[in-house]
Amino acid sequence: MIEVQGTSPLSGTVKIQGSKNAVLPMMAAALLHEGITVFTNVPRIQDVFCMMGILRFIGCVCRLEDHVLSIDATRVLRAEIPEGYMKAMRSSIMMLGALLARQGRALTRYPGGCLIGSRPIDLHIKALRALGAEITEEKGTICARAERLRGAEIHFPYPSVGATENALLAAVLADGTARITGAAKEPEIQELCLLLNQMGGKIQGIGTDCLTVEGVESLSGAVRQVPGDRIVAGTYLAAALACGGKVQLEGVDPRHMGAVVSAFEDCGGHIKAGEGCLAVSASGKPEAFEIVTGPYPDFPTDLQSPAMAVMAAANGKSRIVENVFENRYRTAAELEKMGADIRICGKEALIAGKGPEPGLCGARVTASDLRGGAALVAAGLAAKGTTVIDGCCHIHRGYEDICRDLSSLGARIRDEGGEKGSISSRIGECAGGI
Ligand code: UD1
Repeated sequence: MIEVQGTSPLSGTVKIQGSKNAVLPMMAAALLHEGITVFTNVPRIQDVFCMMGILRFIGCVCRLEDHVLSIDATRVLRAEIPEGYMKAMRSSIMMLGALLARQGRALTRYPGGCLIGSRPIDLHIKALRALGAEITEEKGTICARAERLRGAEIHFPYPSVGATENALLAAVLADGTARITGAAKEPEIQELCLLLNQMGGKIQGIGTDCLTVEGVESLSGAVRQVPGDRIVAGTYLAAALACGGKVQLEGVDPRHMGAVVSAFEDCGGHIKAGEGCLAVSASGKPEAFEIVTGPYPDFPTDLQSPAMAVMAAANGKSRIVENVFENRYRTAAELEKMGADIRICGKEALIAGKGPEPGLCGARVTASDLRGGAALVAAGLAAKGTTVIDGCCHIHRGYEDICRDLSSLGARIRDEGGEKGSISSRIGECAGGI
């Protein structure tokens, strides 16, 4: 449970943690080298602990000391991912491509993460089949086999992040050349390509929707830094816009945040980009604005809920069009408990902001997904009185310590604890996906 007291402005500098969506596929890539791979700036979040659990289960030795993670994949004994881990974290699906490449087989269940939409994995399966895998699906179990994977033409009708990552992980050690068109272009995919190339892979077209992967015999180890988390940075920008103040975010690449900066400037924030940092100054009286989510470089769906929290506290009528996930408005009902006025119609949400008066008011609310939980924290900072947020296990999946970060900026916020158990005590308790 997190308790937040509104409405004091934020001020100061905070270092942004390493990126969840970058480190998870990087950890899967470590499986492709029969030896040690080391990552620095690794966020100490539940999804990383969960991925370590999977890697350990299949035989890797993982050590996380402070923010340095070493993965020794010299011995890989198993090719299955236990159901509990798959349910706890949708990204475990990217182990499918890595396991096929390393072990020639993979056995798993359908991943978790249904809370924000149906989230099928047809594109992952399609890509792996094109590379020569035989995949059978029965009663929720996925069984994949491939004597040898071979390069092929893969076209994605939609730029799925996870399916692009799976295709890359499977193709990098395949025979011949794979060409992936319609690929997702998220910065985290670029990072995965850069890591694989550092390990000896041959990937071209990085940052475009057409990736060419020339298969190689083997990969070597690497030491690589995980980039700063653009979604965590965007969350803290939203918090500063909602309650005002002057905040400097260190350790994030502003070039990856164009759509976010532009939308947040529309609502009155003054945002300055520097070398590896962003500075925001905001009055605490945001103006209405509009966002339309989409694949990168469009506004990220992961920041849709934090943006909705700002809109709920803004002056005037704001609008959201959610184009990525069909059920990503669950946080609206919780914001309504704080006085927000939100109308949802299909993909669209219309938010009549409460402005400074009457404003949002503190309430007891429940996080039902990772970014929605963080949005409730931002709303709590802008609301009069006390907000109590339950279901914080969702927030811990992706934020190392949101209370530490925001209280270092002067927020009155504390984690009442009780939900930060070890991964084994948490698996299944907080199934989520993104
Ligand atoms: C990743 C991110 C998540 C982000 C999302 C979209 C990680 C760990 N998670 O999730 O934070 O919100 O990208 O930017 O990186 N789809 C299909 N078939 C498939 C795969 C996806 O129809 O086989 C659909 C999904 O239902 C969804 C859309 O494609 O509507 C986007 O999904 P995708 O890009 O695959 O997201 P994830 O990789 O799950």
